[in-house]
Amino acid sequence: MSRCDIHPSILSADFSHLAEELQRISGADAAHVDVMDNHFVPNLTLGLPAVERLQAVSPIPLDLHLMIDDPDRWAPAYAEAGCASVTFHAEAAAAPVKLARELRAAGAKAGLAVRPATPVEPYLDLLAELDMLLIMTVEPGFGGQKFLDVTLPKLRRAAAAVKDHGGTVALQVDGGITEETIARAAEAGADTFVAGSAVYGQDDPAVAIEALRRTAREHRA
Ligand code: DX5
Ligand code: ZN
Repeated sequence: MSRCDIHPSILSADFSHLAEELQRISGADAAHVDVMDNHFVPNLTLGLPAVERLQAVSPIPLDLHLMIDDPDRWAPAYAEAGCASVTFHAEAAAAPVKLARELRAAGAKAGLAVRPATPVEPYLDLLAELDMLLIMTVEPGFGGQKFLDVTLPKLRRAAAAVKDHGGTVALQVDGGITEETIARAAEAGADTFVAGSAVYGQDDPAVAIEALRRTAREHRA
């Protein structure tokens, strides 16, 4: 069966109880961890020492989303910490191919992210170097924003390229994913879905994860 993964974002979790918050999403495919540096985006979250502790206690793999300047310098340490996947931004990386190779050499899956206004075409020749392509569906920096439908044509073009390449690269969407928008993203070809407020904003995150997964499966392209 084709991939259809749900990655709850702990950005919307209670930061004073992160170990427990990870347990509440143990039925998900991975935990999405947003690292922000107050430079690449106007918000600050957590860094390597906190991620190392999360990695030690998480019941599921960690999917790191680095919204930071100079990922060439900082990203490999997250792979060395044991994170299952490490995604850096195309707009911030000086040498994306070199960096993706370093991440893989350190045992992580390598992901490349593009902001809503960044074209994906210049990066489609790099698919062989990548395990995941992240099409941001909001401007990165904050949870709880509204899904940007203007990103859907780009998502469709990326999905076609990923399919042509053999389907080995995961196609992730992040931002504004709800029970309603996940259907549109799945129809456009996404197969890996980040959801923060739509999971942790519910009384039972496990129920929210299952509902999102069911809807995404029904609508997968
Ligand atoms: C935003 C982050 C997202 C965020 C998504 O820049 O990259 O991962 O947590 O939150 P929601 O799902 O609430 O839009
Ligand atoms: Zn994210």
